[in-house]
Amino acid sequence: MEREPLVYIDGNLVPKSQAKISVFDHGFLYGDGVFESVIVTDGVAFKLKEHIDRLYDSAKAICIDVPMSKEEMIKTIVDVVRANGFKNAYIRIIVTRGVGDLGLDPRKCSKPTIVIIVDKIKLYDDDVWSKGLTTIISSVRRDRVDATTHEVKSMNYLNNILAKIEANAVGADEAIMLDDRGFVSEGTADNIFIVKNGVIYTPLRSSGILPGITRARVMKLAEELGYKVVEKDITPAELLTADEVFLTGTAAGIVPVVKVAGRVIGDGKPGPVTRRLYEKFVELMRDPSEGVKIF
Ligand SMILES: Cc1ncc(COP(=O)(O)O)c(C=O)c1O
Repeated sequence: MEREPLVYIDGNLVPKSQAKISVFDHGFLYGDGVFESVIVTDGVAFKLKEHIDRLYDSAKAICIDVPMSKEEMIKTIVDVVRANGFKNAYIRIIVTRGVGDLGLDPRKCSKPTIVIIVDKIKLYDDDVWSKGLTTIISSVRRDRVDATTHEVKSMNYLNNILAKIEANAVGADEAIMLDDRGFVSEGTADNIFIVKNGVIYTPLRSSGILPGITRARVMKLAEELGYKVVEKDITPAELLTADEVFLTGTAAGIVPVVKVAGRVIGDGKPGPVTRRLYEKFVELMRDPSEGVKIF
């Protein structure tokens, strides 16, 4: 029988089935916390440092002072992955406001809770590359730039979950969300790109997106491969009439979209630009110079 994954909770390693936190933790009571996800492929934790930078930026934005340095955090994560012995894994790092009382005042929480989970995740079926994803355009909008903020990877995912429920209700694989102005924003846990006449477009940071780490690397990769990449406001009509559409994210990697709101994208098959980027990206994920080598 496979051994249970070990979960780090505030300095202790406990088996998954016993990994529990207090019901008075404000992460649980109020979604008051931040998180990150990192993928380990063949022993390489892709862009681990960048994820830790974003974790600390998210924490800073909501006034959580993470009780360890970034260097200690990286070392702890590496130790937890090694203790689990997984060469291919999904890491979830969570920092909550900590245990407080039933009121929401963060001053009542004396110390943030740190949790590091090392496990597996599977977002889409294995046939995603032969079939591509079908999507809807959700009625649920991403936050405005001056709202709680989409730029913080916080424990508030309710609008993304509501959008996913809409996709599930009609049997689509994923939902594409618009920003408060009606421009294309992102998927429920992925950034979006479109390809039109050989040029690659992606929404601006001000369009309700989480500035994705995969997004940033894919933009650089596309430029390295000679494509022109443009960040701009994308209208729903531009999305529906694109030659190719794809999503990017830590857990998903690069995934092709072949249908949006009933419209077939291109010829209904994953497109050549998406495929070329994917093939190169898969190599990058194993490249120690693109992350931290754990094994
Ligand atoms: C809302 C949202 N957008 C985009 C992304 C993609 O970001 P990244 O590439 O950093 O995983 C994620 C996943 O982390 C997400 O949760």
